[in-house]
Amino acid sequence: MTSRRPASPPKSASYAAECRARFGEESGVPRQVPEVPWLRQVLMRRTHRRYADRPVAEPLLRLLLAAAFSASSKSDFQQASVIRVEERARRDRLAALIPDMPWIGNAPVFLVFCGDARRLERLGELRGHKADNGNLEGFFNAAIDAALVLQTFILAAEMVDLGCCPISVIRNHPGAVAEILNLPDKVFPVAGLCVGYPATAGHISMRLPLEVTLHANHYDDSLLGEAVEAYDIRRGAQHSIPREQQRSPEIFGYAALYGWSEDKARQATQPEAQRFPTYLRRRGFSME
Ligand SMILES: Cc1cc2nc3c(=O)[nH]c(=O)nc-3n(C[C@H](O)[C@H](O)[C@H](O)COP(=O)(O)O)c2cc1C
Repeated sequence: MTSRRPASPPKSASYAAECRARFGEESGVPRQVPEVPWLRQVLMRRTHRRYADRPVAEPLLRLLLAAAFSASSKSDFQQASVIRVEERARRDRLAALIPDMPWIGNAPVFLVFCGDARRLERLGELRGHKADNGNLEGFFNAAIDAALVLQTFILAAEMVDLGCCPISVIRNHPGAVAEILNLPDKVFPVAGLCVGYPATAGHISMRLPLEVTLHANHYDDSLLGEAVEAYDIRRGAQHSIPREQQRSPEIFGYAALYGWSEDKARQATQPEAQRFPTYLRRRGFSME
């Protein structure tokens, strides 16, 4: 039997337009790299929160879930579970927890991606080798597996023109979510996911440049301040934050230059998902 190497994709000039859209600049744009349409699509990807009144075909949804569960898995433990919320009453109860995000109730499909540290314990019971999987490592592995399945689903869905929006705010209400979805101990929500055909084009959320997020050989954030200032300006030129959307002006006042970094620094002062640690401990995670 002869084995043939797949033909390498043709070289393209660059991904300049996509990199400009993603980073707001062309410096460091790779040149003479393979032409891969999927990479162009990933560079241009975006979250969608408004959906057309068009159902997602069942076989397609199953195919996307099969692709999603093809994600890498720590030690092949396969510690992710997805709950598809089809019953209107359950969906409405979830949506009612977060009234300022109506897309949770409106999206044609709603999935909840869970870290599942329980299944491995059940395997131990079935095989007669009981082991506790509620330590930090167990939690972490399950959370990562669920996140990888989530992102693989998103990228697969975007390839067939669907749009998605992850929903981590459900973790602000862990007890209610667990009750609505019958989550047993050691199964916890990582994020919900709205899925549907986008009703609008949406917009690309500019990312920090690789000079901030990619470190050569050793960690070095000594130039963070300058790089973030330049990023704020580029990002603001493409998508400025209106004065009325400045966060907590009663605490911080109004900023003349209100960029991404000011917005995120203000956002980070407001703790989120405060009930989640207690919930996890009650649900069997020692986190030791
Ligand atoms: C783990 C995770 C949780 C998120 N939770 C929410 C959420 O609760 N509500 C929401 O509207 N968007 C949520 N998002 C979407 C982010 O706001 C979005 O990815 C971010 O603004 C960057 O935009 P982009 O995906 O279009 O590049 C979440 C994204 C991730 C990865």
